[in-house]
Parts: sequence; structure tokens; C-alpha cells
Amino acid sequence: MNKIIFSLILAVTSINLTFAATGNVEAGKTKAAMCAACHGANGIGASEAFPNLAGQHADYIVKQLKAFKEGTRTDPVMAPMAVGLSDQDMIDVGAYFASLDRSGAVATADSGSGSGSQAAVQAPVVHIANASAGKSLYELGDPSRNIGACIGCHGKEGNSEVLIYPNLAKQHAQYIEKQLHDFKATTRTNFAMNQFAGAMTDEDIADMGAYLADTQAVANVKVKRVAPVAVITEAAIAGEAKAAVCASCHGVGGNSLVTMYPKLAGQNAEYIAKQLQEFKSGARKDPIMAGMVAALSEQDMNELGAYFASQKPTAGNGSASVLGKALYYGGDASRKITACIACHGTTGKGMAKAGFPAVANQSVEYLTAQLTNFKATARDNDRNSMMRNVAKRLKKKDIDALAQFMSSMK
Ligand code: HEC
Ligand code: HEC
Ligand code: HEC
Ligand code: HEC
Repeated sequence: MNKIIFSLILAVTSINLTFAATGNVEAGKTKAAMCAACHGANGIGASEAFPNLAGQHADYIVKQLKAFKEGTRTDPVMAPMAVGLSDQDMIDVGAYFASLDRSGAVATADSGSGSGSQAAVQAPVVHIANASAGKSLYELGDPSRNIGACIGCHGKEGNSEVLIYPNLAKQHAQYIEKQLHDFKATTRTNFAMNQFAGAMTDEDIADMGAYLADTQAVANVKVKRVAPVAVITEAAIAGEAKAAVCASCHGVGGNSLVTMYPKLAGQNAEYIAKQLQEFKSGARKDPIMAGMVAALSEQDMNELGAYFASQKPTAGNGSASVLGKALYYGGDASRKITACIACHGTTGKGMAKAGFPAVANQSVEYLTAQLTNFKATARDNDRNSMMRNVAKRLKKKDIDALAQFMSSMK
């Protein structure tokens, strides 16, 4: 599991990696003439097999062209196309395609070589039901299967605002599906995507293709939440006895009544165990907790985690916040704040297997303290600075709003 988390972080921390150079759109247009046979003269792929490039982020296009050239993304058709392109060519071509409009999403006749001049092939009929299921998975992910909410990185309706995450809206279904199958088979590599696609079934992948090909068709469909299943394991039963000593601060069943003591009810087991280990090792510093964990074995920690995870949390003391909600679900691209939803999930339950904590129902005071600690790096036990990178960009006003909102999540 450590390997999974570590690499996930690598994928996530590449958020800030952008290619600084700006391209020349006119020069790019000339250089892109040879691409038109497949990607269309207007950047709309001439068939389902050829991705739309119109309106795609320039940085993403450059990154893919480099990957095709270097062979880290393998495709027999694109490899020879990319091999002749210099860095400057890639930057110019990226700028050109990024400047085109995808909203038409209809291929124009090829003005180029003629060899690939297929007429525009219509997308297959979109089955509304499947697109709705795709939308649900897109917006909510499935924490029980370790599938992240796609919306956290690829943006609302597939329009990503973070340059390193490709736009997926109005992309050919067949192309989307092929990429997800490639990520699943790891013939295309990106750690986050390999994890998520790896957990998707063929049906999920087909649903996702249908959804992304035309997100507007189901714009009014309300996404369904999958009810979490409470699992009472033997470890949880064993943990109950060991948790008695914790109740004086964390409350009975982990529902603390004092806001400075975090609620543990409903917190993810893996996350709790990690915190207990780190209070013991000193990686997370707290004089009270250090004393509490000194005598705990690894098994105790796992059982305590399993027990608290199985408990139902009571409602938090926060109230709705417009700013908090906007930052939680949308982040702030202009300030490079990744949306919290990407890791803490749509309902604030975190992602158990990845070690991402639940934040819903937690007290405002505790959430505020932790965000402030991460910002000041007084808490630095987050792997690869995942939380510190987010928290350092938050102003006090943002922290207050987020703490209220998260606490009010159910
Ligand atoms: C003969 C057809 C063909 C030509 C010509 C062609 N491409 Fe492609 N291109 C493809 C195919 C097929 C894929 C999808 C590969 C895959 O499935 O991974 C692709 C993928 C891409 C991608 C990745 C898109 C994404 O969303 O990840 C980029 C960027 C790209 N091409 C740019 C170009 C550029 C720039 C040119 C011209 C220099 C060009 N292509 C010429 C067929 C072509
Ligand atoms: C943690 C951020 C993150 C999340 C969450 C995420 N992705 Fe991605 N996705 C990426 C990155 C980064 C890439 C580009 C990989 C590369 O550079 O080759 C990508 C690429 C893709 C591509 C290929 C696009 C193209 O034009 O070739 C598809 C399709 C895709 N993601 C679908 C999804 C779906 C469906 C989900 C939800 C189940 C999802 N992603 C969740 C980060 C993410
Ligand atoms: C004397 C009071 C006290 C007792 C008893 C106590 N804790 Fe704590 N615990 C705290 C405080 C205070 C914090 C917050 C530390 C911080 O601010 O970083 C905390 C934090 C935690 C956290 C981190 C929660 C999170 O969301 O990151 C866990 C897990 C935890 N305690 C588990 C336990 C367990 C298990 C026991 C019993 C074996 C226990 N605690 C007993 C006071 C206590
Ligand atoms: C890239 C993934 C990622 C993103 C994005 C992210 N977090 Fe976190 N967050 C984590 C991880 C991982 C931890 C736990 C670190 C550890 O292991 O101690 C955490 C911990 C926290 C905690 C402390 C929870 C506790 O019980 O002590 C809070 C509060 C929090 N995050 C809020 C936020 C907010 C608010 C945002 C958005 C502005 C956000 N996070 C974005 C990964 C993320």
C-alpha cells in the first residue's frame, strides 16, 4: 500500500509542473498541417480513434508529444509523428490547438494530405442511463474501490482548470475508453490514472466514455450517492476494549464532546493507525498523544483504527459556508489550490485505502488547528507534503470557511 500512496502523491504533486514557454499560434498552425489528416483541420479528430485536440491545454499537449517521442507513452501511429518535432515545434503546435474551439466538436474535411481524409464519423448513440452512471462515478468516485473523484482533477464536466490535467469534455467516447483501458493495462502509465482505471470495470469505462462524449446530455441528472456499508470486523471488536482509555478525551465511541479533541468516530482505520504510529515515532508531535500511544503495539493500533472506523459520527458544529464549499469542491486554479474533493472525497469521508482522512463531521476548532499547523509546517507528517502544499496557499479567511464547511458535511 505504501507504494501506491507514494506514487499517488508523485502524480498529485506534479500539479505545479507547467511548461513555462509560450508558443506561437501562427507558427503552430503551419506545423500542424500534417496533423490534420487525423486530428482534423479544426482540431476535432476525424474519427472516434483520433482524439480531439481543439481546446486542450497546451502544456498537456506538449507533455504528451514529448512522451510519444521518448516512448514513455507508446502508440505506433503517434511515435513517428512526434519524433520529428523539436521542443519549439511542440510548444507552437500546443499553443495552436489550445487556441481552437472544441464546442463545435464536428470534424471538418481534411485540408491536408488526403490519406486520412475520413469524413466526420458521428459519435455512437449515447445511452442516457450509461452516461448518468458515468456522471456519478465522475463526480463522486468510489472510495470503497479506491477510485478518486475524477472531477477533483479533470474539473466540472471535464473542463479542467489545472493545466496539467487534460480536458476530457467533448472527447470521443471510443478514445476515452481506449485510454482508460490502456491505463488499466498500464500500457499507458500515470500512477494516479493507473490506480483509478485499474479499479474500473469494463462497464464503468463504457459509462465514462458515454458521459464525457456529451456531458450536457445528462447535465440535469442528479448523481447518486453510494451508501457506505458499515463493516464490523473482528479487529473492530477487539479494538473496542482497548478504546476505553481514549474515551476521556475522544468521547464514547470516538464522538468527542470537547472540540479541541478530534472525533475519531467514522475516521478511516488506516489513517488512524498511521497517526498512532507517528505519535509514537514523533513524526507527528503532540505531548498528550505521545503519552497515550507509548505502550501500544502495531496490532493495538490497527484494532483501534478498525473500531473507531466502525462507529457512526455525530454531526459537526460547523455551518454552511459559500467560500468553504467553493474551495472544497473547486479549489482555486488561479492560486494553485487543488480541490479538497480530489483526496477527501465528495462527502468528506476521505479515501480509506489511500490513507486520506475523513474531514466531515469533525469539529471546526480541530479542523482549523490542523490546517493552521500544516500551513505553518508545525504538522509535517503528510507524505510528500501533500497537505502542506495545499495549506500554505490558504489564507486565514479560507481556513475559517473550509473548517466551517467541512464540519457541516455529513
Ligand atoms: C495518422 C494519424 C495521426 C496523425 C497524422 C497525427 N496523430 Fe496524433 N494521435 C493519433 C492517434 C491514433 C492518437 C491516440 C493514441 C492513443 O490511443 O494513445 C493520437 C494522439 C495524439 C495526442 C494525445 C492526445 C491526448 O488527449 O492525450 C496528441 C497531443 C497528438 N496526437 C498530437 C498530434 C500532432 C501535434 C500531430 C501532428 C504533428 C499528430 N498528432 C498527428 C493519430 C494521429
Ligand atoms: C489525482 C488527479 C486525477 C484524478 C482524480 C483523475 N485523473 Fe485522469 N488524468 C490525470 C492526469 C495527470 C492525466 C494525464 C496523464 C498523462 O500525462 O499522460 C490524466 C489523464 C486521463 C485521461 C486521458 C486523457 C487524454 O486526453 O488522453 C482520461 C480519459 C482520464 N484521465 C480519465 C479519468 C477518469 C475517468 C477519472 C475518474 C475515475 C480520472 N481521470 C481521475 C489525473 C487524474
Ligand atoms: C488526555 C486526552 C487524550 C486521550 C486520553 C487520548 N487522546 Fe487522542 N488526541 C488528543 C489530542 C489533544 C489530539 C489532537 C492532537 C493534535 O492537535 O495534533 C488527539 C489526536 C488523536 C488522533 C489524531 C486524529 C486525527 O484526526 O488526526 C488519534 C488517531 C487519536 N488521538 C487516538 C487516540 C486513541 C486511540 C486514544 C486511546 C488509546 C487516545 N487518542 C487518547 C487527546 C487525547
Ligand atoms: C493531494 C491530496 C490532498 C488534497 C488535495 C487535500 N488533502 Fe487534506 N489531507 C491529505 C492527507 C494525505 C492528509 C493526512 C496526512 C497524514 O497522513 O497525516 C490530509 C489531512 C487533512 C486534514 C487533517 C485531518 C485530521 O483529522 O487531522 C485536514 C483538516 C485537511 N486535510 C483538509 C484539507 C482541505 C481543506 C483541502 C483543500 C483545500 C485538502 N485537505 C486537500 C491529502 C489531501
